[in-house]
Amino acid sequence: MKTSLKLVLIFFFVSGTIVNHSQVIPEKIISARVDSVLSLMTLEEKIGQLNQFSYGSGWGPAVKVQISSQYHEMIKEGKIGSFLNATGAELTYELQKIAVSESRLKIPILFGYDVIHGFKTIFPVPLAEASSFDPEIVEMSARYQALESSSAGIHWTFAPMVDIARDPRWGRIVEGSGEDSYLGSVMSSARVRGFQGDLSNDNIISCAKHFAAYGGAEGGRDYNSVDISERTLRDVYLPPFKSALDAGAETIMASFNEISGVPSSGNKFLLTDILRNEWGFKGFVVSDWNSIGEMINHNYSKDLKDAAMISINSGMDMDMESRAFLNHLKELVDENKVYEETIDESVRRILRIKFMLGLFDDPFKYCSKEREQKIVMNDDIQKAALDVAKRSIVLLKNDGSLLPLKKDFKKIAVIGPLAESKEEPLGAWAGFGNPDDVVTVVEGLRKYVSGKTEILYSKGCDIEGGSTDGFDDAIKTANESEVVILCLGESKDMSGEARNRSSLELPGVQQRLAEEIYKTGKPVVVILMNGRPLSVEWIDQNIPAIVEAWFLGIKSGDAIAEVLFGDYNPSGKLPVTFPRSVGQIPIYYNHKNTGRPGNENNHYTSKYLDLPLSSLYPFGYGLSYTRFKISDLKLSSAEISANNNLIIKVKVENTGNYDGEEVVQLYIQDLVASVTRPVKELKGFKKIFLKKGEEKEINFTISEEDLRFTGRENKAISEPGYFKVFVGNDSGNVIESKFELIK
Ligand code: BGC
Repeated sequence: MKTSLKLVLIFFFVSGTIVNHSQVIPEKIISARVDSVLSLMTLEEKIGQLNQFSYGSGWGPAVKVQISSQYHEMIKEGKIGSFLNATGAELTYELQKIAVSESRLKIPILFGYDVIHGFKTIFPVPLAEASSFDPEIVEMSARYQALESSSAGIHWTFAPMVDIARDPRWGRIVEGSGEDSYLGSVMSSARVRGFQGDLSNDNIISCAKHFAAYGGAEGGRDYNSVDISERTLRDVYLPPFKSALDAGAETIMASFNEISGVPSSGNKFLLTDILRNEWGFKGFVVSDWNSIGEMINHNYSKDLKDAAMISINSGMDMDMESRAFLNHLKELVDENKVYEETIDESVRRILRIKFMLGLFDDPFKYCSKEREQKIVMNDDIQKAALDVAKRSIVLLKNDGSLLPLKKDFKKIAVIGPLAESKEEPLGAWAGFGNPDDVVTVVEGLRKYVSGKTEILYSKGCDIEGGSTDGFDDAIKTANESEVVILCLGESKDMSGEARNRSSLELPGVQQRLAEEIYKTGKPVVVILMNGRPLSVEWIDQNIPAIVEAWFLGIKSGDAIAEVLFGDYNPSGKLPVTFPRSVGQIPIYYNHKNTGRPGNENNHYTSKYLDLPLSSLYPFGYGLSYTRFKISDLKLSSAEISANNNLIIKVKVENTGNYDGEEVVQLYIQDLVASVTRPVKELKGFKKIFLKKGEEKEINFTISEEDLRFTGRENKAISEPGYFKVFVGNDSGNVIESKFELIK
């Protein structure tokens, strides 16, 4: 058959059947369609599908669409499977038009973008969202982010970032869900569900990243080597990836780092043995930015050609920006160093996604300017951003019930370098977020209070730098007021990619400012805005009320005002331990016991001479304006087996003066095992609302599967014996009981 006729038939088949995009297309049909396209492709066209390039555009009505002629030619030649950073209905339309009208096979382009915590409407950073301990809210957030970004031409987000982070010096801690694998897994699947939905018109493909153990970077230095056991890899770092895949994540991004000598972009054990063979992953793997090329710097590949060979033979499917595949795969196939079948497999996986999204049927379905105009920053999305923001706030201290603030203050001072900042609340990966859209704390409070309350503002100092010139004005402002809201923290550029710190202290002279304001004797509330845990021991010891606000996105000031005045009773919990000092790192709640568990009264035990054993705030910690008492821990049986789950019941009472929500947390400890086990592991949590004075019984279920860990043979096993079970308000405040696993 002549190719042109074949093409006509294929495209009739491709576009003439099942055009209802909002319905999930059965895998069998997709696979047949993929094969029919594949059968027409030259080797060069196949290799073309495996390349992703950054378009590097701006977005918005003011940005003129300019198609680079180099990319124009490459699209026509079928050399580009995907772009990242080409955004907006107009630009993606223009690029797609070239692909589907001027390239030989008319294969649509896949447009990817880092929608990490919003596209234009910026939501709280993921670490903040994880503090909500509320997967429904996190799913909703991802859902709205997908709605907004898909209306601007985006098919695919490089999120969720599901890296476990036990070192707060690492700047990318801000992009994930903190230190715990269970919480990380819950948040990971919530985000995938939110982004992908049923993959109809306003959903986007998700990408669980960075595979794997990227957060284990030595010294908290981004991109650094990771040297961990396979057991730690499987028990700590991999579960959130598995959870993302179980929720349907269709792509995975390989990480920059090496693990025990093997860079992820050339790690067959990760990309094929675990991902494909053990987990049955059907989607595709994309490299991180030039991570294939960087295997040369790792001293793992001798040149780009070698890197291309190692990477594709390890299980990589798409090359982001290194041009290793583009420039070397053909030659490698000719030399029999890479099988064409390997390339076919990768092409199949990529085409499959394009079919799933319905792009062969309607390549322009994400490119409607009218839809973009209607949806981007619409009221619903902004309302959702506020809702998520207030639920992400964690109350760290509230001595003497200083909060919520009385509504009849005459003068409130808002002081500090983050009080009026419109840039910083946007956080580390703010897409097309515009500082002008941010509600600052000063603005939020001014909108909020009645005409009888005056909000005074003084900056006091910069986030960084040594100048104390603003102190006098700040002190004067504090003295004129009845209460001070002191907004301290980091700039948004102090966390995120390649933004690591060796100190966890407040930068610049901010603590000195706090000390000066404290001396005025006014009641002070500190609002922390930061992308990582901070060591704020002086603040904790001296300031009566502390609110952890992270970077809350465009609705920051509104959310903070609602919390400060008690219209929303804070319910967040810390997804990560706050160290007293950087010297305690790594410090995480689910550590091992050691042979000499730390004991302040016993010299020869595991501890520091110059620091207490405890953290500043433990994992899972967070207060409310009310109090919750957890009691009456009861187990359905003293035993559990493979056939009999254990039901754990507790009574939760709201004993304070406000209605509120509590996150009731369930932990276990395996008391004796063939490999040592953590002192505590989160296995469940429930966020419940109780009216003041109300009480409720809460149930958790534990199965034998929940008691599994990676044994000596690196397989998931459970072992008979005793376990402790803990239920509490945080990892450090629990009641406990015991049960036995019978085999
Ligand atoms: C980051 C990824 C990101 C990619 C594309 C890389 O530098 O590590 O997380 O998705 O860039 O922007």
